[in-house]
Amino acid sequence: MLTNHRLLLAARPSGIPGPENFSADALPARTPEPGEVLLETIYLSIDPAMRSWMSEGTGYQQGIAIGEVMRGGGIARVLSSRAEGFAPGDLVQARLGWQTHPTIAGRYLQKLALTLGSAEDWIGPLGLSAVTAYFGLRDIGGLRPNDRVLVSAAAGGVGQIAVQIARIEGCSVVGIAGGSEKCAYVKGELGAHAAIDYKAQQDLSEAIARACPEGIDLYFDNVGGPTLDAALGHLRPGARVVLCGRISQTHAAQPYGVRNLGGLARAHGRMQGFLVFNYHARYDEARTWLSARRRDGSLRQKLHVLEGLAQAPIGLGMLFRGENTGKLVVQLAEEPGATRKA
Ligand SMILES: NC(=O)c1ccc[n+]([C@@H]2O[C@H](COP(=O)([O-])OP(=O)(O)OC[C@H]3O[C@@H](n4cnc5c(N)ncnc54)[C@H](OP(=O)(O)O)[C@@H]3O)[C@@H](O)[C@H]2O)c1
Repeated sequence: MLTNHRLLLAARPSGIPGPENFSADALPARTPEPGEVLLETIYLSIDPAMRSWMSEGTGYQQGIAIGEVMRGGGIARVLSSRAEGFAPGDLVQARLGWQTHPTIAGRYLQKLALTLGSAEDWIGPLGLSAVTAYFGLRDIGGLRPNDRVLVSAAAGGVGQIAVQIARIEGCSVVGIAGGSEKCAYVKGELGAHAAIDYKAQQDLSEAIARACPEGIDLYFDNVGGPTLDAALGHLRPGARVVLCGRISQTHAAQPYGVRNLGGLARAHGRMQGFLVFNYHARYDEARTWLSARRRDGSLRQKLHVLEGLAQAPIGLGMLFRGENTGKLVVQLAEEPGATRKA
């Protein structure tokens, strides 16, 4: 008999989450009812938004109840099916939760189009982090060839794709990341024209001025706080600022008050936020574009892979300590026939 290992929310975090916020249990995997499918989880995506789901009603989605399986999306293989359209061996994506063998209604599953990419691609360069970068740059940022683009958290899941989309579209790109290794990755692997190690700067604004001497047409902001302020001081006329995330503020005791809005006004600039979920109807468009760039070799991808369900809470904390490079995932089972690609 198969066992479903699960991680449940045990205590709401006050700071960076970790294993102490979760409890583990193991139940017999539930036999599917009509309309349901029994799955084996292959990958779980680890995302900063999960931190807000662990709090009570403070995020953009309802908080998770204490004792509930931790919410999270991922990729799984169908083991047995009583749902029309799904057969053993199919690969699907869904909100699986942090569990090894969920049983889920077929209507909540999306079968992976393997013509676009493998399961590893679907958690990586075709996954929601990549789709976020795509819509953030294009729809919110109005990306144009020759734009001078600045991206923060440039070595992370969203950032690594944002840097590359801008580079592929003929922009000059500067990435901001923490540490010399991440900066080497942003320049070397991702092809940014320059990288700024924000942790090594006395004055981030001066560092941006040196790296972007002509200023910034598009700032893709993943971190908020003082980094946003520094970028606002270097906007070119008509600049666009994309508010994708504000990870630096997740655990701030006091919300950071943005001080440099004058820079936006002087540039006749525009600043706009977005949530990728509101682009649901257009995910295919993004994935088709990303898949084509993946196949022609212009889009690279780094997956930061942790092994085993018990690593998921550790991984979540790593995002807030900057310990990941690339898209952070937890692998629970082997992807059939997979060899990892760069
Ligand atoms: N709008 C949307 O729909 C949407 C969707 C997905 C994600 N997001 C947002 O996009 C951002 C990136 O998400 P991701 O999943 O790709 O995560 P990620 O970039 O892979 O990981 C988070 C990174 O943030 C940086 N960071 C952590 N604490 C920081 C701090 N105090 N100051 C500055 N940088 C800090 C770290 O990189 P360094 O080592 O470089 O500091 C860390 O590696 C997050 O803000 C997330 O909330 C938004």
